[in-house]
Amino acid sequence: MSSTLPSVNSSMPKHVAIIMDGNGRWAKQQGKLRTFGHKAGVEAVRASVRYAREQGIKALTLFAFSSENWNRPEEEVSVLMELFTFVLKSEVKKLNRNDVRLRVVGDTSKFGAKLQQLIEKAEKLTESNSSLVLNIAANYGGRWDIVNASKKIAEKVQAGELALDNIDESLFDQHTALSSLEEVDLLIRTGGDCRISNFLLWQLAYAELVFTDVLWPDFNEQYFQQAVQVFSSRQRRFGLTGEQVESSVGVTC
Ligand code: IPE
Ligand code: IPE
Ligand code: MG
Repeated sequence: MSSTLPSVNSSMPKHVAIIMDGNGRWAKQQGKLRTFGHKAGVEAVRASVRYAREQGIKALTLFAFSSENWNRPEEEVSVLMELFTFVLKSEVKKLNRNDVRLRVVGDTSKFGAKLQQLIEKAEKLTESNSSLVLNIAANYGGRWDIVNASKKIAEKVQAGELALDNIDESLFDQHTALSSLEEVDLLIRTGGDCRISNFLLWQLAYAELVFTDVLWPDFNEQYFQQAVQVFSSRQRRFGLTGEQVESSVGVTC
């Protein structure tokens, strides 16, 4: 992410993050097991990637598995890991053909060796793609990200590579999991709950938050478009007054 804030008059978000919530309830509504909802959610992931690419969104960050989700029943966690492995295998070629760069952000060291290898392979294969950066947040926690960045910086200070005076917001940002990407403009959460659930705590500082009751497996291009429209209708002020924003050139909202 750049240290400067995004332009106040950009109506299309450059970086969208999504908390893909509601799979379990979606399945329950149909009298099925929760894991059925996770499987059905894969199609909503495909639709979101498609929409992001078509609309020229530069980065899409999807919350797939939180550091707290390990506490779910063992059977559900193991289905989620299998599903992640399966989707990585089945979708990577297509993502690559579509010029999508895939990155997995989170503490991947906790995953099995096979899954870690697949992640590495997929990241390597797609590393030079540039139409869209697709970040899959897996075993990710916003607090983990902040602590991890702090540790990396502390190590450099300890090694004498960095002086305390060099630590500022921009440097800190460079040590977080989404470093070097655009600022998150829009956060969408499906499933009806209005909370962040330890997602991108540092990166959401000035994001627009859009919450929808739609359950994740029902999410599609139209719902994505609606969330973008809500985003476009908001006036982003970044601490300025509304009058200051309106008087700047080319303001559309
Ligand atoms: C989100 O759906 C997917 C993950 C957290 C892995 P949920 O599984 O949380 O679905 P609900 O919220 O219980 O309906
Ligand atoms: C957030 O959803 C995590 C993901 C979507 C991966 P949760 O369902 O885990 O969040 P809480 O527990 O309702 O806050
Ligand atoms: Mg949930």
